[in-house]
Amino acid sequence: MLEIKNLTVNYGVITALHDVSLTIPRGSIVTLIGGNGAGKTTTLRAISGLLQPAGGSIHYAAENGRAEEITSVPAHQLVRRGLAHVPEGRMVFANLTVQENLQMGAYLQRDKALIRRELDYVFGVFPRLQEREKQIAGTLSGGEQQMLAIGRALMSQPKFLMLDEPSLGIAPLLVKTIFEKIVEINRAHGITILLVEQNANLALEISHFGYVLETGRVILQGAAAALRQNPQVRSAYLGGA
Ligand SMILES: Nc1ncnc2c1ncn2[C@@H]1O[C@H](COP(=O)(O)OP(=O)(O)OP(=O)(O)O)[C@@H](O)[C@H]1O
Ligand SMILES: [Mg+2]
Repeated sequence: MLEIKNLTVNYGVITALHDVSLTIPRGSIVTLIGGNGAGKTTTLRAISGLLQPAGGSIHYAAENGRAEEITSVPAHQLVRRGLAHVPEGRMVFANLTVQENLQMGAYLQRDKALIRRELDYVFGVFPRLQEREKQIAGTLSGGEQQMLAIGRALMSQPKFLMLDEPSLGIAPLLVKTIFEKIVEINRAHGITILLVEQNANLALEISHFGYVLETGRVILQGAAAALRQNPQVRSAYLGGA
């Protein structure tokens, strides 16, 4: 579904990604793990058309379609093609209600009945958001704001969803709920997911494949189950467990 070859991204004189290649098969959950500054967010921003890569290519195949090159296609055009990105730090509109935030996610849709259907779909995934439909988003808990950020991305009916650290700063119980929802979005709704996480344990538990990034390079890759057994991954990312 998404094929990244030799992606290189520079910030001025700093090279943040060196020749990164990733394959994300349709229907899978693929996780990108790595420590602070490894280049995870940069990878998602490059895929989303928010950063101009210095080299390499990104190909995306929409449903039943041929793979097309999307390197440097601007972000708003990619949303139309079914890509959605939940950025690091959530970034909900703090002064708008839950419902208004969700409606912002459906900005490509003019048909009110369809927007209603999308809202019901998101409320089906996150009943907590329905209970708080009229609440101002800035007063939601961190975990609820993360649900809202994911819900807003779902409003554009994506085929390919990128999540940047959905567990960051959230209490363990809610993290568990959010990860269960990620699995549900993937299994029940057939959405392909690229998940960026520092919580490698959780991420590998729900993913099919994983890539480990270190200072802008892929240092390991493989089936998630194999990575969980890998001694290097265990000592560096799984707390030696
Ligand atoms: N706008 C920018 N200008 C200059 N350097 C940047 C910029 N954004 C990121 N970097 C650098 O690029 C590298 C990769 O950053 P990135 O945000 O992709 O890391 P990350 O893996 O997402 O880390 P974290 O887990 O801390 O979110 C870091 O060294 C960072 O300092
Ligand atoms: Mg990041």
